Amino acid sequence: MSEAKRLAGEKAIDYVEDGMVVGVGTGSTVAYFIDALGRIRDRIAGAVSSSEQSTARLKALGIEVLDANAAGPLKLYVDGADECDPHKRLIKGGGAALTREKIIAEASETFVCIIDPAKRVPVLGRFPLPVEVIPMARSLVARRILALTGGQPVWRDGVVTDNGNWILDVHNLAITDPVAMETALNQIPGVVSVGLFARRPADIVIVGGEPPQVL
Ligand code: A5P
Repeated sequence: MSEAKRLAGEKAIDYVEDGMVVGVGTGSTVAYFIDALGRIRDRIAGAVSSSEQSTARLKALGIEVLDANAAGPLKLYVDGADECDPHKRLIKGGGAALTREKIIAEASETFVCIIDPAKRVPVLGRFPLPVEVIPMARSLVARRILALTGGQPVWRDGVVTDNGNWILDVHNLAITDPVAMETALNQIPGVVSVGLFARRPADIVIVGGEPPQVL
């Protein structure tokens, strides 16, 4: 599987243009993209990173990491996903980086999503949906999610996000209307962000393989 991730990550370099500030996601597939970016670091102006984990890897390769506020709109964001449906809508946040990922996706003109073939699904929801919550709202949000969706929220005990918050993973969902679910869950007080990327889906999906498939 990591071979498919490597092939997807390296293919995404095709979308990097000279002088760009590149938005960089989080995860094991993105790690291959970062390593490939390191090999062309002299061609880019820097990166905006979605996690402390990616920041450390970027810096170790000599790539400058810029503040999102200073960088402004980005042309390109490259990130992985936990699930991808035929409309390029995604579940993300398995690595707990969903909020910063969502901010960068929103700030970017083109979102290139890099996945291995196992991430493709007809309907989102087999992978538990991550929701980042303010710690004091954990129990309230869990109750509201159960009532709204029928899914079972499970606290990812021991995990604190880069923003100091907690994660609920919602099990047993079949998300037939991802935009409606994203919108509804976003309204619950205490929800910081929802790991559904449906209102702003990926623009391009690269599925790792020999050769990589571009959707
Ligand atoms: C991080 O929070 C996630 O959104 C990742 O993008 C996702 O978990 C993909 O991870 P892998 O590339 O490690 O499968």
